[in-house]
Amino acid sequence: MGKIERILKELTVEHTEFLNKIKNFQEKLENDFSEELLEEILEFIEKDIEEHARKEEEDLVDAIEEADKNFDSDALIFGHQTLNDAVDDLKSVIDEFKIGKTSQKEVVKYAERLFTLIKDHFIEEEHFLFPDILKLELERFE
Ligand SMILES: [Fe+2]
Ligand SMILES: [Fe+2]
Repeated sequence: MGKIERILKELTVEHTEFLNKIKNFQEKLENDFSEELLEEILEFIEKDIEEHARKEEEDLVDAIEEADKNFDSDALIFGHQTLNDAVDDLKSVIDEFKIGKTSQKEVVKYAERLFTLIKDHFIEEEHFLFPDILKLELERFE
């Protein structure tokens, strides 16, 4: 297995793991809402999701550039900006919620919005971006 293939496999396994976590968070947002839950969600985003994005932007991009200097890897990084913006929005709403300036319903709305964006992002990577990247490696050994 080549380097690119190995990294893509690892990233895909993480997607599945994160989707399970998100499903669990969504259930809790609906049935078991608490400030601790919000802390858990923020920690998940700041640790797991951040580290995953770093692997894509650094480890994967490095491996791609080794295989093909001309490959346009901006698409990999571009998608993360939308997610970062949604994370900032959620953080602001949580801060407002903590000082009584906004409702629980509003926090749930922003968390759901972020989760939907994350899911769409994973789908886009697995269905379009990753297969294109994998081709780079496969074509080299033809
Ligand atoms: Fe990504
Ligand atoms: Fe990803």
